[in-house]
Amino acid sequence: QAVSSLQDMSGPTSPSFDDDYADVNWDELGFSLMPTDYMYTMKCSKDERFSHGELNRYGNIELSPSSGVLNYGQFLLFSCLNQDPCYISLKQGLFEGLKAYRKVGGGFLLFRPEENARRMQMGADRMCMPSPSIEQFVVAVKETVLANKCWVPPPGKGSLYVRPLLIGSGPVLGLAPAPDYTFLIYASPVANYFKEGLSPLNLVIDDEFHRSTPGGTGNVKTISNYAPVLKPQKRAKSQGFSDVLYLDSLKKKNLEEVSSCNIFLVKGNFISTPATDGTILAGITRKSIIDIARSFGYQVEEREIPVEELIEADEVFCTGTAVVVAPVGSITYQGKRFEYKSGAGTVSQKLCSTLTGIQTGVLEDKMGWTIEI
Ligand code: COI
Repeated sequence: QAVSSLQDMSGPTSPSFDDDYADVNWDELGFSLMPTDYMYTMKCSKDERFSHGELNRYGNIELSPSSGVLNYGQFLLFSCLNQDPCYISLKQGLFEGLKAYRKVGGGFLLFRPEENARRMQMGADRMCMPSPSIEQFVVAVKETVLANKCWVPPPGKGSLYVRPLLIGSGPVLGLAPAPDYTFLIYASPVANYFKEGLSPLNLVIDDEFHRSTPGGTGNVKTISNYAPVLKPQKRAKSQGFSDVLYLDSLKKKNLEEVSSCNIFLVKGNFISTPATDGTILAGITRKSIIDIARSFGYQVEEREIPVEELIEADEVFCTGTAVVVAPVGSITYQGKRFEYKSGAGTVSQKLCSTLTGIQTGVLEDKMGWTIEI
């Protein structure tokens, strides 16, 4: 059942979005899908611009069996850069992730939604897809959050995870960009991403599998970057690890990222993270943590990080929208386990509490990153 845009919802037949809380046990939130009331949809064809979006009741969507997103997922590209074949899967599907927080005393905060909009535009260009304008993206996020506001957890209990998708929804048989595209946003209340909660992660470096390869799409938030990490992730979990840390696919010696987040090393006053050189996802939390760390006087370096540097690091932590900032307690590489400081008084904890303080409105947002709705 289609519902018109919130901007047109002033009449007596307008749906009223409940101010109260949805019936949820907020203490039991993890990171799994809890469907909410409304989703946002906007469509366009390949020669058009996106123009009019609408809120609909959350539910299944209809797709042609020959839609671009379901077909041509496995476009195999043989890379001759080294002896090993590198397979790149190109799939016309992008996603984003951002969070809305409920403020103490009322109101909701979005964190840097225009950064997600920009990243989607960049990804859409790489995948030959039209994309919403930054304004359209941000308006759509605001409307989705307000329509689902009773699902935003109470302060301190989590956030509403907002998931924008851009897919080639039109039918295509020969290998080509799809004729029609759908931009869709749904949302789910969430709390901690890892089952470890706030406890440190135990990562393992997998030198058999790689997440990304030069010339591929590792820097794009395409859906095809995520299925390939499921197998190594499953193996790591079955061995008792929290997740996998990947090395670069050419030299197999530089740190890249974890399945769903970026990685940082701390050594004294230096904080380093792999440079976003095409194979690393330019995380918005990554970028924000770099700025916060610099504002505290840390020397932050974005560069190649050889795996040997893990031996020397004082602390290691991960960043991501879903993950936020997660301390790493150990990394296992070729059977050797390296351990790191975590908990009270660590750099990662200081950076994390500053970031979440800004995101939730508990700390003054001197960076101008949040948008109140
Ligand atoms: C996010 O952090 O928002 C992501 O998109 C990662 C996803 C695997 C949960």
